[in-house]
Amino acid sequence: MDKELVDLFWQAHDGLPREAPGSEETLELLLRLAAPLAERPRVLDVGCGTGPASIPLARLSGGVVTAVDLHRPFLDVLVENAVAAGVSDRVSVLEASMDALPVEPGTVDLLWAEGSAYVIGFDAALATWRPLLAPGGVLVLTEAEWLTPEPEPGARDFWDEGYPTMRTTADNVAAAQQAGWTVQATYVLPDSDWAAYYGPLAARIDELRAAGVAEGVLAQVGAEIGVRERFGADYSYTAYVLRPR
Ligand SMILES: C[S@@+](CC[C@H](N)C(=O)[O-])C[C@H]1O[C@@H](n2cnc3c(N)ncnc32)[C@H](O)[C@@H]1O
Repeated sequence: MDKELVDLFWQAHDGLPREAPGSEETLELLLRLAAPLAERPRVLDVGCGTGPASIPLARLSGGVVTAVDLHRPFLDVLVENAVAAGVSDRVSVLEASMDALPVEPGTVDLLWAEGSAYVIGFDAALATWRPLLAPGGVLVLTEAEWLTPEPEPGARDFWDEGYPTMRTTADNVAAAQQAGWTVQATYVLPDSDWAAYYGPLAARIDELRAAGVAEGVLAQVGAEIGVRERFGADYSYTAYVLRPR
């Protein structure tokens, strides 16, 4: 992407409450599904964005959270959000890449990754993050997936461009099992979790359009929302609770 498009991308995304589908309700459910957890888990939130998961994780797990992202402005917002939520003593940020995390192997009780594993891909994420888990550690991630082996062409064409390696849940479950993980739970994120992401994003696009910002990335993001409206039955994010076997 050239610089103008990159700037426009961040203009469309900065200041949103979240950068991927999800919700606190889903997070709470996943925490329950991830039991048993260490009493005060050491949590690593990978690709944390502004911390829509990091902060509730600190509050609900009673543990300490290290929130990792490559985009410094997101981490700066996260620090402010942690102060506002009264959990800044248990949330720290780390500017690092998810494929080379400067984290001691065997020190993470709960590795969390909402809407971020796709950056390196499902299989690579499982392989790269596994050594970081402490004995008894759990990996929870969400991944965009086909809900049907034969999606509508309109959906397939769009995602073949944006995420060509997107697979079905059955394929990802099989891949995780083959890679030596126990799939403790899967959970398809509800439409309301998509609305929590796309609602504010659509409103931002409208604002930028009204301000006369050139199309380009706006059209791309708008198209993504439109594809979901038309073909949402064919794909979603699925959450995984995984334990090394
Ligand atoms: C789709 S967003 C999800 C953010 C957040 N988990 C949420 O649910 O709002 C993906 C995040 O991954 C971050 N990211 C992209 N590449 C990364 C990398 N190589 N290492 C760490 N974070 C990365 C982006 O800056 C962004 O915050």
